[in-house]
Amino acid sequence: MGDLFSLEGKVSLVTGGNGGIGKGLADGFAMKGSAVVIAARDVDKTAEAVADIKKRFGVKASGIAMDVADPASIKAGIKKALDEYGRIDVLANNAGINIRKMPQDYAVEEWDKIIDINIRGAFLCSQAVYPAMKKQGKGKIINTGSMTSLIGLGKAVPYGVSKMGILSMTYSMALAWARDHIYVNCILPGWIDTPLTKTARRDFPGLTEFVEQRTPMGRWGEPADFMGIAAFLASDASDFITGEYIRVDGGFAQHGNTVSFT
Ligand SMILES: NC(=O)c1ccc[n+]([C@@H]2O[C@H](COP(=O)([O-])OP(=O)(O)OC[C@H]3O[C@@H](n4cnc5c(N)ncnc54)[C@H](OP(=O)(O)O)[C@@H]3O)[C@@H](O)[C@H]2O)c1
Repeated sequence: MGDLFSLEGKVSLVTGGNGGIGKGLADGFAMKGSAVVIAARDVDKTAEAVADIKKRFGVKASGIAMDVADPASIKAGIKKALDEYGRIDVLANNAGINIRKMPQDYAVEEWDKIIDINIRGAFLCSQAVYPAMKKQGKGKIINTGSMTSLIGLGKAVPYGVSKMGILSMTYSMALAWARDHIYVNCILPGWIDTPLTKTARRDFPGLTEFVEQRTPMGRWGEPADFMGIAAFLASDASDFITGEYIRVDGGFAQHGNTVSFT
């Protein structure tokens, strides 16, 4: 048997893959030989990520300007990737934003923005790749959820709704597309050091130390912590796993005092 984790000959598209967790996922796909398409809004940042992937992993890589809040942009972006590569084997729905405030303070536009990017965008990207994956006879969709897919967070109501939504979407799409051999799974990151959480650290003094103390592994996660899970969920190694979530959180969800006493 060859390498069950190999992604040679595959094409992986990562929304929000030009930095943070998405770049970690993209690196994981490239590490196992997949060509990588980075889809995000900031074309300069995307070009940098593409150049880095080519240099470090020697795979084909390209960038696509895509705004997942815009259905037309999603359609055009997926078409462009298919025109260039002829297939999409892996879709990582990772693009996401947060706006942190108390529930009573959100403007309706802020609610819409979070929902449109974090959940509607992921839905429409999945819809857009479905015909190609069905035709290929196989596909892997990897959604990025959050701890708020499972628990509440007072200053993140719309974000939490979007992340519980993406888990629900994972479950339902996994059922809907199982017989097409399209696998749908979800990664739930803990506290990861990215531009998204840099703003949280700025806004909430003490967060850095809180996370270090509260996380059993004693540290923040890094984008590179997502390379292994990306390779696993994209590869044949996970061919009997669908509709599942996996926490990548350094044990955060299993918190408690036991780590100090045992
Ligand atoms: N960091 C954490 O602790 C943490 C924890 C749990 C879950 N997450 C989730 O992980 C994912 C990645 O977050 P991150 O922490 O890596 O944050 P990040 O560094 O801010 O990355 C967000 C990515 O999404 C892209 N993006 C944002 N809006 C977009 C849009 N409308 N269309 C296309 N791309 C868009 C950004 O690229 P452009 O700006 O160039 O478009 C960027 O690549 C998000 O879904 C987030 O909710 C993060």
